[in-house]
Amino acid sequence: METILVTGGSGLLGRYVVRALRDKYRVIVLDKIPPEDSVEYHEGNVLDLPFLIEKTQGIDAIVHLAAIPHPLDHPAEEVINLNVMGTFNMLEAAARNNVRKFVFASSESTLGFAFAERKNHPDYVPVDEDHPLRPQDPYGMSKVLCEEMCKTYTRRYAMQTLCFRMPWIWVPEPEEQKLYRTLIDEYPNWYKNLWAFIHGMDAADAFALALEREYREEQRSWFITADDNWTGVASIKLVRKFFPETIIYKNRLPDTKSLIANYKAKTELGFRPRRTVNDVFNEIA
Ligand SMILES: NC(=O)c1ccc[n+]([C@@H]2O[C@H](COP(=O)([O-])OP(=O)(O)OC[C@H]3O[C@@H](n4cnc5c(N)ncnc54)[C@H](O)[C@@H]3O)[C@@H](O)[C@H]2O)c1
Repeated sequence: METILVTGGSGLLGRYVVRALRDKYRVIVLDKIPPEDSVEYHEGNVLDLPFLIEKTQGIDAIVHLAAIPHPLDHPAEEVINLNVMGTFNMLEAAARNNVRKFVFASSESTLGFAFAERKNHPDYVPVDEDHPLRPQDPYGMSKVLCEEMCKTYTRRYAMQTLCFRMPWIWVPEPEEQKLYRTLIDEYPNWYKNLWAFIHGMDAADAFALALEREYREEQRSWFITADDNWTGVASIKLVRKFFPETIIYKNRLPDTKSLIANYKAKTELGFRPRRTVNDVFNEIA
């Protein structure tokens, strides 16, 4: 049985990733805080390279989630230090122990819309992996830098590195549902996110897929998004109102189709998001 190390496995996404992997693999969580579920656990810090070198011995693959996901609550230097140095340390520890696969939690913030201070609109929709990345903020920049580091480690060590650019992760948990209802009701305020989301269980399934499949290309970044936007409003109508300068590829944006496309993840990874926005209000989604 292969052994998978999941950093940040006690967090919001990590919980779902651990549940998606634990029947098939030996899963070890590395986190500052213990996981709720019963799973092997190393308490520690991704900023501690000697500790990581010790704990990545004998590991077959790493899922690296530990980071600051809510950048507005933290100063820029903290976001860069943890997100960039934490990822560097994990890649370096992985390389020294010959770990062959590294799956990284990137973000749609690489595009630069979500936390933009100055005007920034999509060149075209649906946005896909060919769209330029133009982050203005430390969080988006940290994820772009991490993807670049993944490329370097793949070049140097032939380590397979897969980066999942996820939008807002919505989980079917009662304490989060009030927020999601507000986001839906007040969707005009959330145009910077392009109203893209992913159900936590679908995101977790994508990480499981990444571990199962082999790819010819050793470094890849994909958008991992739900099929539809979270508003229930036709996507073309949203774009015309909120991003009048943006080119619309109408045939790729029927009905409420997500403004951030997942078709490359579908065709190249076999990703199949199965949950809709309604499923986050249903605990057994
Ligand atoms: N939540 C989202 O909507 C979202 C969207 C896109 C990408 N992401 C990315 O997904 C990943 C997981 O996000 P999340 O929402 O589960 O975050 P989270 O804050 O719920 O979980 C992060 C986990 O990392 C751990 N951690 C933090 N600093 C650490 C350190 N120095 N050493 C070891 N462990 C540490 C925390 O204890 C926590 O358990 C992050 O990389 C985030 O950037 C999240």
